[in-house]
Amino acid sequence: MKNRSDLPSWKALEQHYTASKDNHLRKLFENDSERFSKFSVEAAGLFLDYSKNNITEETLGLLENLADECNLKAQINGMFGGEELNNTEHRAVLHTALRQFTGKPVLVDGEDVVPVIKAEQQRMRKFVESIHTGSWRGFSGKPITDIVNIGIGGSDLGPKMVVTALSKQSTKGLDVHFVSNIDGEELSQQLSKLSPETTLFVVVSKTFTTLETMTNARSAKRWLLNYFTDKAAVSNHFVAVSSNLAAVEAFGIDAGNSFEIWDWVGGRFSLWSSVGLSIALSVGMDSFEALLKGAFGMDRHFREAPFRENMPVLLALVGIWNRNFQKLSSCAVLPYDKRLTHFPSYLQQTDMESNGKSVGKNGDPLAIDTAPVVWGEVGVNGQHAFYQAIHQGTQRIPADFIAALNPDNELKEHHKLLVANCFAQTEALMWGKTEEEAREELKAEGVSQKEISRLIGHKTFRGNNPTNTILMGRLVPETLGSLIALYEHKIAVQGMIWGINSFDQWGVELGKQLATKIAKEIDKGVYDQHDSSTAGLLSRYQEVAE
Ligand code: F6P
Repeated sequence: MKNRSDLPSWKALEQHYTASKDNHLRKLFENDSERFSKFSVEAAGLFLDYSKNNITEETLGLLENLADECNLKAQINGMFGGEELNNTEHRAVLHTALRQFTGKPVLVDGEDVVPVIKAEQQRMRKFVESIHTGSWRGFSGKPITDIVNIGIGGSDLGPKMVVTALSKQSTKGLDVHFVSNIDGEELSQQLSKLSPETTLFVVVSKTFTTLETMTNARSAKRWLLNYFTDKAAVSNHFVAVSSNLAAVEAFGIDAGNSFEIWDWVGGRFSLWSSVGLSIALSVGMDSFEALLKGAFGMDRHFREAPFRENMPVLLALVGIWNRNFQKLSSCAVLPYDKRLTHFPSYLQQTDMESNGKSVGKNGDPLAIDTAPVVWGEVGVNGQHAFYQAIHQGTQRIPADFIAALNPDNELKEHHKLLVANCFAQTEALMWGKTEEEAREELKAEGVSQKEISRLIGHKTFRGNNPTNTILMGRLVPETLGSLIALYEHKIAVQGMIWGINSFDQWGVELGKQLATKIAKEIDKGVYDQHDSSTAGLLSRYQEVAE
C-alpha cells in the first residue's frame, strides 16, 4: 500500500492548506451568501450543516480526489459485501447486515446470514414480550421489575447510550441499569437498591472472558444465590449474550437463555445485535426495530449517494481536513440534549478504539496522524465548563453540535433557549469578535479609554473555529439509529482513507495481560521484577491494604 502522504491528492491538499491557511471563516461567509446551502446536506432524517469549516469548493474537490485515490467506493462496497476488512482477525465487518431490510441475502463465507439474524431477532422479541407481559417470572414467582446489563466497552456503552437517549420510550414498570466497572462500588451500589426476587441480569460479553464482566457476573450470581440458595434460581434470573456458548454454559446459564452474536459483528458496532437486548427490554422490540430502520436509512444513503452529497463521507472528509492538514488534534462532541448524555463516551470508544492506530493494514508504521482525541459533554453544561478554552484557548478544537429541533417535554420555552444556545455557540466560534468590535462595544458601555486598553486583549475572540451542526426533527428511535450509523460510517471512511484496520483493537491487550499478571502476584505475595514505579506502588498497596 502506498503511503497516503505520498499520494498526489495528499500533496495537493498540503499545498492547498499552505495557500489557504489564512482564510478566516468570517471572510468565507462574507464572500459567499450561498455558503450554507452549498455546504449542508439532508439525509435519513438528519440535517448536516458543515459550512462552518475552513473549506471551499476547492478543498472538497481535493478531498474527493483523495477518497478516489484511496479507492473509497470499492472499500465501502467491500464492507457491505462481506469482505474481510478486519484483516488481523480474518473477519468480515457486517453490523450493517443486522439492520438490513431489503430481504436480499448477505453472504459470509458463502453462507447467507440473514435467516440466522432474523431468527435471533424473533427470539429476542419473544423474550422481551415474556418480560413485559410478566409471563417470565423470577424464581419465587414474581414478575421482573429490574434489568441489570453487565458488560463493558461495546457491550455496555452503546446499549447504555441508547437506553438513556430513548428514555421517553421506556416501558413502565421496568428499570434498566448498567454495570460495567470492576470497581466493586458500582455493582455493590446497584445491588443494594434491588431485590433478587425481581431482578434479571443480562450478561453481555462477546468473548465471555472479559475480566470486568465475568467478575461482576460471578458476584451478581453469588448475591442471587445468597438469597435463594437453590442453584436452579439462576435460570430465572440470568440470560447471556455472547458468541462463546461453551463459556456461557460453563458459567451456569442454559443455552436456551443465551442469545448469539457473531464474529462478523465488532463489539463497538454491536448494539444492533442481541447485544441490544437491554435496549429492546427498555423500549420494546418495535422501537428497537425502528432504531434499526433508522440506521438502515443511513446505510442506504451512504451506499448510494455520490460523495459530494454523502453525509458520512462529507463528515469524514472534513474531519480529515481538520486532523491531517489543519493539524487539529481533538474533536469535541456536544449534544444539546440531556438524553444524549452518554453519546460522547459512546463515540469515544467507537472512534478512538477503531481509529487509534499507528500502523497501516499491512503493519507498517504510518507517516500520517489518525484518530483525534474525541471528548465532549452535553452542550449547555459544557458552556459553563470548558467552552472558554474552545473560544479563547491556544488550540482550535473542531466540534460537532447535535440537537433535536422539537422537545419531548412540555417546557417549550426551555427548548427554544436550548436551541438558541446551540446556534449561538457555533456562530460565536466561527465569527469571533475582532479588537475593533470589542473596542466599540466597550466604548458604547461607557468604559474609559484606559480601561479599554487594559481589557481589549481579553475581550477579543479569534473565532475561525470549525464546527458541524447536526439537526433532527425529534430524537426518536429512527433518528437516533440514523445518527449512530452516520458516525459509524464516518469512522469507517476515515479508517479506509488512512489505510488502517478500524475493526481490531490490539492496543487494549497489553494492559489486560499485565492486570491479570499483577492480580496473580498480589494473591501469591510474590512479585516479578517491575520498574521502580510499579514496584513502589505494589509495595505501598501491600503495606496499606487491609
Ligand atoms: O476494550 C476492549 C474490548 O475488546 C472492546 O472492543 C469490547 O467492546 C470490550 O472489550 C468488551 O468485550 P466483550 O464483549 O468480549 O466482553
